[in-house]
Amino acid sequence: MTAKQEWIDVAIDALDKAYVPYSHFPVGACLVTKEGKIYQGLNIENASYGLSNCAERTAFFKAVSEGEKEFSHLVIAGHTSRPISPCGACRQVMSEFCEPSMPVTLVGDNGVLKEMTVEGLLPYMFTEEDL
Ligand code: THU
Repeated sequence: MTAKQEWIDVAIDALDKAYVPYSHFPVGACLVTKEGKIYQGLNIENASYGLSNCAERTAFFKAVSEGEKEFSHLVIAGHTSRPISPCGACRQVMSEFCEPSMPVTLVGDNGVLKEMTVEGLLPYMFTEEDL
């Protein structure tokens, strides 16, 4: 099995662990460091809906809180007919920690895949250079 297929499997595996009693819309993520370490993320909802955390941000916050800051790949999976489209907040978080050219693989049901980059998902991004 290729490394990428393993990352896709990790993101899909997260779908069963997502805590989504309100939306019933699980999302899974697999964030890969430059050293090849993997952080799995899933969405975690709350009765106070606005406190819900997306799968991608769960993965980033797990990794960054463990001291990681160098990432090489992100896979995001959903039970969607087209490859899942990450929300704007998560695109902004990606732009904080990833190089613009970093690949992001979007996965839907039936193995549909879309290959993007961080910059492709968030053109003309707001970064620390704008401050
Ligand atoms: N969600 C994610 O986890 N990631 C995204 O990029 C899109 C949205 C979650 C948030 C909420 O738990 C559910 O999907 C429905 O919006």
